[in-house]
Amino acid sequence: MTALGKLIRTTAFKLSVAYLVIFTIFAFVALAYVAWNARRVLDDQFVSTIQAEISGLSEQYRVGGLRRLVNVVDRRSRTPSASLYLVTTDTGERIAGNIGALPAGIIDQPGQFETDYARTDETNAAPGHAIVRVYMLPGGFRLVVGRDVEERARLREAIQRAFSYALVLIVLLGFVGGWFITKRVLKRVDDMTETTRIIMDGDLSGRLRIAGTGDELDRLAQNLNVMLDRIGELMKGMQEVSDNIAHDLKTPLTRLRNKADEALRTAKSPDELRAALEANIEESDNLIRIFNALLMIARLEAGNARDSMSDFDVSGVVGDVAELYEALAEEAKTPLEVSIEAGLAAHGNRELLGQAVANLLDNALKYGAGPDAAIKVTASRQDGRIVIAVADHGPGIPEEERSRVLERFVRLENSRSSPGFGLGLSLVAAVARLHGGSFKLEDNAPGLRAVLTLPLKDRPTS
Ligand SMILES: Nc1ncnc2c1ncn2[C@@H]1O[C@H](COP(=O)(O)OP(=O)(O)OP(=O)(O)O)[C@@H](O)[C@H]1O
Ligand SMILES: [Mg+2]
Repeated sequence: MTALGKLIRTTAFKLSVAYLVIFTIFAFVALAYVAWNARRVLDDQFVSTIQAEISGLSEQYRVGGLRRLVNVVDRRSRTPSASLYLVTTDTGERIAGNIGALPAGIIDQPGQFETDYARTDETNAAPGHAIVRVYMLPGGFRLVVGRDVEERARLREAIQRAFSYALVLIVLLGFVGGWFITKRVLKRVDDMTETTRIIMDGDLSGRLRIAGTGDELDRLAQNLNVMLDRIGELMKGMQEVSDNIAHDLKTPLTRLRNKADEALRTAKSPDELRAALEANIEESDNLIRIFNALLMIARLEAGNARDSMSDFDVSGVVGDVAELYEALAEEAKTPLEVSIEAGLAAHGNRELLGQAVANLLDNALKYGAGPDAAIKVTASRQDGRIVIAVADHGPGIPEEERSRVLERFVRLENSRSSPGFGLGLSLVAAVARLHGGSFKLEDNAPGLRAVLTLPLKDRPTS
C-alpha cells in the first residue's frame, strides 16, 4: 500500500474529511443566510424610499397640478442617483422622467413590480433592472417611481466571491490540518504496532511509549502497559511455580523411588514390604498435598477463581473454621479465644477464605502453641473493612523475614522440624489479593499476629 493509500484509509483522515464537509455546509448556510438577509434589508429600504417619494410627489401634484409635478420630476431626474421617475398620460405617453421605456402593461395597473427598464439618458446602455411602483394620479395620469437594483446584484456577487474564497481556504486548511493530525496520530500508532510486534516476538520487557499528553492513545498505551505488567507477573509466577514444583518434588520423588527400590532389594518379610509400601503411600500423600496447594495458588494468581465468587457470610466461615480447630487446640493444651462480630458479609469465595483462615490457625497451633499462650481469633468491622486476625504467643517471625515467608516454599530455619511445605502463607496472601484485600504479619509481642483484611460487602439497606 502506498503511503497516501495508507493515509486515506486511516480513521483520522476520514474524520478530517467528514469535518471538512460539515464545515463547508455550515459556511454555505451561514453565507446564504447573510445574503438573503442583506437582500431583504435592501429591498425594504428601496420600497420605503419609493413610498416616501410617491407620497411627496403626489402631494406636489395635489398642490400644484401636473405642471408642478413635471417640474419636480424633471429636476430630480437630472440629479445622478439610482432613483427612477416617469410621468405618463392615461394612454401611456411619456410626459416627464428618466425612464425611457418599460415593458408593456406595467403602467396599466397600480402596484409594485420588479422589471427591466431603459433610461432616457443612456439610450444605448443595456437595460437595467429595477423595483418600480405605479401610482394612479387623480385625472388619469400615472406616476412611476423606482430604484435601480444593480447595487443588490453587486452585493450578491461580493458574497458569492467571499464564499468561493472561503471554500478554497476551508478545503486547503482542512486538508493540511487533517494531513498533519493524521501523520501525528499515525506515527504514534505505527510506534505502538512496532512495539507490540517486538513484544509478540517474545521480548516481554518491552513497553509502549507514553507521550504524556493524557489523550486516548496515551490511556490506551497505559492500559496495555499495565496489562503487559500483569502478564509478565503471571508468566513469572507460572515459571516460579513450575521451577519450584520441579525442584521441590525432585527430592521427595527420588526418595520415594529409592525407598521402593531399597525395600525390594532388602526386605526379607512381607511385613517389611508392607511397612515400606505404607511409608511410600505417606510420602505420596505429601506430594499430592504439595501439588494441590501449588495448583490452588497458581489458579488464584491466574485469576481463574473470579468466576466462582458470590456474596457470603464471613462471620459464619471464620466461626466454622475456629470450631474445627477447637479440638486440635485442646489436644495441644492451648486456649483458643474466639471473638467474631456477627453479620460480616463479603464478596468472594467461601471455601478459599475458609482455607486461608485454617492455614493461619494451623500455623498458630504449629508454631505458637503452649499452655499459657492463648491463641486469639478475631473478626470485626474496622473503617468499613473486614479485619480477620489470628494471634499467638509463639516465637513470632523477625521483621526482616515477614515478607519473605509469604513466598512459596519459604520456611524459617527453626521450623524445619515441624511438618509443612512453606505454602500456607502464600495461599493466604493469594486469597487476600483475589478478594481485593490485603494480608500482613505483625508483631504480637511476643508472637505473631496475622491480619487478613477484606473489603466489606454492603448489604442493601432495603
Ligand atoms: N505463627 C507463626 N509463628 C512463627 N512462625 C511462623 C508462624 N507462621 C508461619 N511461620 C513461619 O513462616 C513459615 C511459612 O509458613 P507457611 O504457613 O507458609 O508454611 P508452613 O507452615 O511451613 O507449611 P504449610 O503451611 O505449607 O504446611 C513457616 O515455616 C514458619 O517458619
Ligand atoms: Mg503453615
